[in-house]
Amino acid sequence: MKKLIVILAAISIFAACKTSKKTTSEDTLQKPLNCPDKELTFNDDIKQIFKKNCTKCHNKNEKAGYNFHKLEFVKKAAKSGKLLGTIKHIKDYEPMPRYAPFLKYASKLDQEYIDKIECWINSGMKE
Ligand code: HEC
Repeated sequence: MKKLIVILAAISIFAACKTSKKTTSEDTLQKPLNCPDKELTFNDDIKQIFKKNCTKCHNKNEKAGYNFHKLEFVKKAAKSGKLLGTIKHIKDYEPMPRYAPFLKYASKLDQEYIDKIECWINSGMKE
């Protein structure tokens, strides 16, 4: 019972955070992409975003089949469309990054990072 209360409290806090910085997927989709002139690489630009936001879950245990410490898994998620789908919170994708594995609630990466990842994918996912 105590556990249930803790979970419910957690969910309502996350729900409150979620509504306070709400962006619709339409906004995200229509925003023109502003890619930097410099070439983006996984090691210099992208890896740290995954390390900070995703590898808590998607690590060597391969939650949902992904270890985002590794380029090959990031490429796999990107090629299936699931990487952008999940981080842009596009309808019908599991929104990521989650707060906890068992919660459906997720936060959203800063738009700057989402754009960076998209630019990197569009420029051929250089290592
Ligand atoms: C707190 C844990 C957690 C964090 C942090 C997290 N994920 Fe996930 N992720 C999961 C779980 C659990 C699943 C499995 C979803 C399910 O089947 O319910 C998943 C599934 C996925 C999937 C597969 C979705 C599908 O439809 O097959 C992708 C892609 C993904 N996550 C990307 C990311 C990315 C990118 C980040 C960081 C920006 C991230 N995740 C952060 C827990 C997490």
